[in-house]
This record gives sequence, C-alpha cells and structure tokens, in this order.
Amino acid sequence: MQNPKGRSPNFKPRAAGRQIAVLFSGGDAPGMNAFLRALVRLAGNRYGARVVGVRDGYCGLVRLCQLVRQEEITVAAIRQELQSHGGRHGLWRRSQQLVPLDYASVADLASRGGIVLGAGRSPDFHDDLVRKQVIDLLDELQIESVVVCGGNGSLAGAELLAAESNLHVLGVPATIDNDVPQTDKALGADTATNTVVWAIEHVSDTAGSHHRVMVLETMGRDSGELARSAGLATGAEIVVTPERGPLTTEKMHGIAERLKKLLTSGHDYGIVLVAEGVRPEPTSGVGPAQTLATYLQSNFRTPGSSFSNVEVRASVLGHLQRGGSPTAADRLLAAQFAEAAGEAMMNNSQSGILGLSGGRIELQSFAPPDDQDRAQRSLQLYKLHKSISRPQPQLLDL
Ligand code: F6P
Repeated sequence: MQNPKGRSPNFKPRAAGRQIAVLFSGGDAPGMNAFLRALVRLAGNRYGARVVGVRDGYCGLVRLCQLVRQEEITVAAIRQELQSHGGRHGLWRRSQQLVPLDYASVADLASRGGIVLGAGRSPDFHDDLVRKQVIDLLDELQIESVVVCGGNGSLAGAELLAAESNLHVLGVPATIDNDVPQTDKALGADTATNTVVWAIEHVSDTAGSHHRVMVLETMGRDSGELARSAGLATGAEIVVTPERGPLTTEKMHGIAERLKKLLTSGHDYGIVLVAEGVRPEPTSGVGPAQTLATYLQSNFRTPGSSFSNVEVRASVLGHLQRGGSPTAADRLLAAQFAEAAGEAMMNNSQSGILGLSGGRIELQSFAPPDDQDRAQRSLQLYKLHKSISRPQPQLLDL
C-alpha cells in the first residue's frame, strides 16, 4: 500500500471543515450521480466535511489552471466562488469549474443516469507539468482530498496524483466494462448488463419473427464481461469476447457451423454477441460485429447451402448501454462506495482504490492485484455459457 508523501503513519486526517474534491472521469456510468449524492450527504452529516464537485473530470481542473495562467481568473476569485456560489446555484453557473455541493443540490440524483457534474477524458492530464499545476492549485485552494470516480484510465490518473502530491486520493471504480482489477463490481456494470439484456430481448422478438441471425456489438474496450454476463442472462447462443483471442477466419467458420447446428435443432433464429474489444484478424476496416455478420452471410450463401435464406444483420448497441437510470443494485453499491470513501478519508491517510471483494469494500493498492482469479472466473463463465447454450442433438433426436 502506498504511503502518501510526507505523512507519518500515525497521521490522522482532520474531519470537520475538510475539503474533498470529487471528479468523474472517463466514460460516464450509471450510478455516478447516486454516488455523488451519497458522498456529499455522508461527508456533511457524519464528518462535517465539504465536498467540492469538479466539472467535467480532470478536464475541469486542467481548464481552471489554464484560466489562472491566462489571468482570466485569479485564485482569490476562485476562493470567492467557493464561498459564495455553492449548491444548485454553482451547478447552474456552467463557467464555474469547482462547485461546493450541499444537501439540496444533490437531491433526486439517486435515480438519474449520466453525471450531473459532467465527465471527460483529458489527454492533457498525462503531461507532468499540467499535473503539477493542478496539484499546486488544489493546494492553494486548501483541498486536501480528491475522490476520483471512473475506470482504469481515470484511476491511473488518481495514482499519479497520489504519488506526486500530499493529497489524499481515493479511486472509486465506475465503468460499464467492469474491468477494474481491484473490484469484483464497478459502479454501472449491473445497470449496463440489464440494458443489454433489454436490448437483446427486443432484438430477439424481431429476429424470431424473421428467422434471422442477429449479431450485436456490446461495449467493452478490452473486456468481454458485459457481453458475457448479458449473454448468460438472456441465452444468447454465442458470445465472442477479447479474452478468448482475436476474431480469426477459423473462429468465424466455427461460429457459422454452430449456428447451422442451432438452426437445424428446432431453433429458427440466433443471437450472437460480440464485445467491441474483439479484434478481427486480419483487420477488416469495420467493427467486429459487422465483420462477423458479413462472414456469416457469405458462408450461409455458399452455393448449395441450405441456409441461403437465413439473413444475418449486425447492430452496434453503442452508447445506449451507458445511459439510463441505475438499477437498485448500482444505487446500493454507490451508497456503499460512498460510505467506504468517507471512512477511508477520515480514518486513515492511505491513498488507493476502493474495491468490492467477497461482499466487503476495502481500500486496495493502486498496483493491480494478480489477475489469476479474474481470468479463472472469466473462463468459468465462458464454460458455463457454452454448456448452457450448446444444442443437445441426442435429446433433440428423440
Ligand atoms: O469505458 C467505457 C466505454 O464505454 C468503453 O466500453 C468504450 O470503449 C468507451 O468507453 C467509449 O468511450 P467514448 O464514449 O469516449 O467513445
């Protein structure tokens, strides 16, 4: 576990009056608003601490430093904003990058998708000099702690902040990809899985009516977790994930053969899920769902094929997977992450990432744990899905 620079191991953070900045970075995830609401209220009610929301993630901090450098705003004026323009009023003032939040300003947020403060990806934050300016500004504003809510890229930014400053930095995993190694579940993953389930069921209705094969592309830059979970929950026949390697011609041939078996086993349509992170090999110039659909269609239409009437369509589910009201499970997880963040913030001095493991949320090191367990779980889910979805000719022959 990393020890923040310059602090003795017995350091006990001050609670009352403490200023905690919170930012949401990377892709938004359902449950971020619920987390913000819970954090603001817990910090105020339990610890008398003040939460300052950062607009648009790291981008808001970088923007503010630029404004200071260009003398468009002074540090004194930012301090003034922090005193006089808080709560809803501060949220309305779009030009204000740091907004102190109060009880009322986070009302009704538990059920709202997206993130009211805005999220963003900031390539500038990779620059050491820019980070130094951000750290100095936070120091001048007497912000002692930063909570970063987001996926792996955002949490890597949090690690750099912790390593290069005296700030107490906590990462809270939130990504529909559910690929943060320190946690079993990231915020937003449950909602996104339910959204994909909803989409598959809609598509299944029309696929069944037209006896088609539908190839659906889910999000997941490097991870097939969303596709695999939704596949298991719905009974999609085939799930293709990056964890199982690239989408080769041989693999596509195997998928075509499995679909043909399915189509002759009493099932007259098929659903194939492909995670966006699957790389076609050789590269095709289009996404994996389109690549696979094109291959399947031409395979079904080879001369003499008895599947030439089966149409294959591709559909990219896209950003609809990131939106929507969070599920009860994500709202609950948001409250638990907020409680763990409050406790970690007030009771010890260590920076790190909060992770859910075996039903408990604990502070983990920024260094990713050995991912053997995760790989094992992914393999188990792959086998489970395969055993459930494979047609059983011996039974169907009866
Ligand atoms: O990390 C979440 C995620 O939705 C990925 O699944 C996806 O690859 C990426 O973000 C898309 O990001 P953007 O919305 O910035 O294109």
